[in-house]
Amino acid sequence: MCGIVGYIGPRSAPPIILNGLKRLEYRGYDSAGVATIAEGEISVRRDVGKLKNLQALVGTNPLGGNIGIGHTRWATHGAPSERNAHPHLGSTGEVVIVQNGIVENFLELKEDLIAEGVEFKSDTDTEVIVHLIEKHYATGIPFVEAVRQTLQHLRGANAVVAMSTREPDKIVAARMGNAGGVVIGIGDQEMFLASDMPAILEHTRHVTFMEAGWMTVIDSNGYEITDFEGQPVEYKSQKISWDPVAAEKGEYKHFMQKEIHEQVRAITDTIGTRIDWKTGKVTLPELNLTPELANKINRIVITACGTAANAGMVGKVYLEKLARVPVEVSIASEFRYSDPIVDDKTVVMAISQSGETADTLAAMVEGRNRGATLWSIVNAVGSEAMRIADGCIPMHTGPEIGVASTKAFTAPLVDQYLLAMALADLRGLLSPKDQLAMANELAQLPTKIGTLLDREADVEKIARAIKDIDHCLYLGRGVNMPIAYEGALKLKEISYIHAEAYPAGEMKHGPIALLDEEMPVIAIATQDQWYEKMISQLEQAKARGAPVIAVATDGDQRVADLADHVMWVPDSSWLISPILTVIPMQILSYHVALLRGCDVDQPRNLAKSVTVE
Ligand code: M6R
Repeated sequence: MCGIVGYIGPRSAPPIILNGLKRLEYRGYDSAGVATIAEGEISVRRDVGKLKNLQALVGTNPLGGNIGIGHTRWATHGAPSERNAHPHLGSTGEVVIVQNGIVENFLELKEDLIAEGVEFKSDTDTEVIVHLIEKHYATGIPFVEAVRQTLQHLRGANAVVAMSTREPDKIVAARMGNAGGVVIGIGDQEMFLASDMPAILEHTRHVTFMEAGWMTVIDSNGYEITDFEGQPVEYKSQKISWDPVAAEKGEYKHFMQKEIHEQVRAITDTIGTRIDWKTGKVTLPELNLTPELANKINRIVITACGTAANAGMVGKVYLEKLARVPVEVSIASEFRYSDPIVDDKTVVMAISQSGETADTLAAMVEGRNRGATLWSIVNAVGSEAMRIADGCIPMHTGPEIGVASTKAFTAPLVDQYLLAMALADLRGLLSPKDQLAMANELAQLPTKIGTLLDREADVEKIARAIKDIDHCLYLGRGVNMPIAYEGALKLKEISYIHAEAYPAGEMKHGPIALLDEEMPVIAIATQDQWYEKMISQLEQAKARGAPVIAVATDGDQRVADLADHVMWVPDSSWLISPILTVIPMQILSYHVALLRGCDVDQPRNLAKSVTVE
């Protein structure tokens, strides 16, 4: 999704902006640009493709200036091209802007502007904004007022950042709706703007997150925030403790590989301070969970997208099994328009790595409007999904940069397990003995994940064996059924292999027709209550000539005899098993994609944060 960076201060703006854009690459983009003001003029450089193209352009055609804005674009309106890349300059050459999000009514605005004689240079929705600002600015009002008046015309959700040669000592930014965050970075006699923290972390950790409906004017000495009516708003700045080194690849080839390996630490941190190891009691301080609330809840709706929704499907099993609360998992893009049946005894719980996924945020708002208690499980610190919830479980995984989510899948599994334990305890459903036993099993999780990571080379061999397949079928049952879905999603998004997932019992109702030598079956067949049934599915697949790759419990000879390849996992209780079985799935997808020469961290057509509908 688009990324924005802005700078004003004593230093040269272009390198700061380009470095900031580099740190936002994880969001996905197809073109990039930067604009600065120097000697009373705006200069713009833009290019399609990777940021290195823009860097090369700026290298051969340098930019000056101590004030500037930059953008990575993920095309929504108009093909990826230089002319559609941001920043967009107005007709007078005095105003330049970038946008993250969408102007829904751009066509009617564009028609009106064309009728007034404005010439458009791009196919974007964004360009209407710069022309409208210019139009208002021409009436002689201050720049900030021109931006403010422009916002009154726009429908949609976006973040807009603008600057002008007539007031070259300030940058104006506005956030309309939930199309993505804007963070203001406060430096020493210098200020920054960005879509996300990694862009500015190397310069400052002192930040203010802008809410929807706010505008800011920054100059090198500080900033002011108002609403769209120009009224001052109450806001807080805060210190962020992320280490910029954590946003680097370090010893790994790709962020995805690094993040797979970070799961030992992520899960350790997730369990960390939340368990009293003497009693096994769980505390989730940011959730504001009271005994009254725990006993009042009669339904939980988990809402999320993609990998986060798959995590929610595992959470459903945990919460229903342990806390005996009925749980529904509702894909956020469906939930938001489903006229959902929700009341004040319902908890709507969002799961989101970025905390800025447009569908998930809209689903949360829908839940809130209908009286539900709003919870979220979120990774990105300070994000919208964290801030608007009544209670939150922060993921504690650190920034996830690879587009394919890995550690932000396993962390919410553990978070939901902890939540189920806490709720069960408060609802009088968990004996002290069971609580302690469960805590003890959680304590062993990081070591077991470490064991799985040590087996990466074994999984890589399997990746070599299947790297040329065109299709495959993932099967799982019970608590591992969502792992089949997650395994298939991981493989398809980074290797572009067609992968379908089914609850294994459904195979006989249709997908079995697909099976032959060309259609491998990847199945989770760990030793749990569904084991015999999974064995029978594997036998049926073998009988049709399909190669079988199984995820199995260490030492299981029956599966070893049946399957062509086995990815072994340490023994665990059935509830904990998905936190382990998913890891070989992630490693397999990573190596298949690598062997096929795919761009693992930035797969085609995908964005890390999907901040538009
Ligand atoms: O940031 P979120 O967790 O809300 O993102 C949800 C999905 O867009 C995301 O999980 C997506 O499916 C990933 N590419 C999966 O690897």
